[in-house]
Amino acid sequence: MIRSFRWDDYDAVAAVWAAAAREVVPRAELELKLARDPELFLVAVDGERVTGVVLGTWDGRRGWILRLAVDPARRREGIATALVRELEGRFRALGCPRINLLVMPENEAGLRFWQELGYLPMPDVLCTKPL
Ligand SMILES: CC(C)(COP(=O)(O)OP(=O)(O)OC[C@H]1O[C@@H](n2cnc3c(N)ncnc32)[C@H](O)[C@@H]1OP(=O)(O)O)[C@@H](O)C(=O)NCCC(=O)NCCS
Repeated sequence: MIRSFRWDDYDAVAAVWAAAAREVVPRAELELKLARDPELFLVAVDGERVTGVVLGTWDGRRGWILRLAVDPARRREGIATALVRELEGRFRALGCPRINLLVMPENEAGLRFWQELGYLPMPDVLCTKPL
């Protein structure tokens, strides 16, 4: 089942991110995010167990997908696909016309996954600056 994140999921979500070698988003950062669009932070659950997570953000122009991860013991079961499909539906409901995301170039499995779902690489180079 896919549903919105609840705070009592946090430890399990952090464990899924850590097991997938994804950076764990600290609680304070999540609090800021959840003040804006809480319905875009989704978990996949099997009974009480969190098996996957995805963090969507909507800036009023583009949707962004971040921190998608599935429990390594539960991959290739369609969990990530279900998470992304649900998130896409929620973006559509907000009127979002396009979704962007970033994948490390060496993440071949990630790139295959995203292309399978219709997300195509762009030549743009990401530029960033800490404030
Ligand atoms: C990428 C990831 C989220 C996929 O999760 P998943 O639940 O296993 O994905 P799904 O079962 O929905 O896969 C859907 C399709 O994507 C493709 N795919 C998924 N994982 C793949 C892999 N390791 N190698 C090649 N293709 C893959 C396949 O076409 C797959 O369909 P199939 O199983 O019928 O062949 C998961 O491997 C993961 O958590 N990786 C570490 C974190 C990460 O890389 N996140 C995404 C990058 S931003």
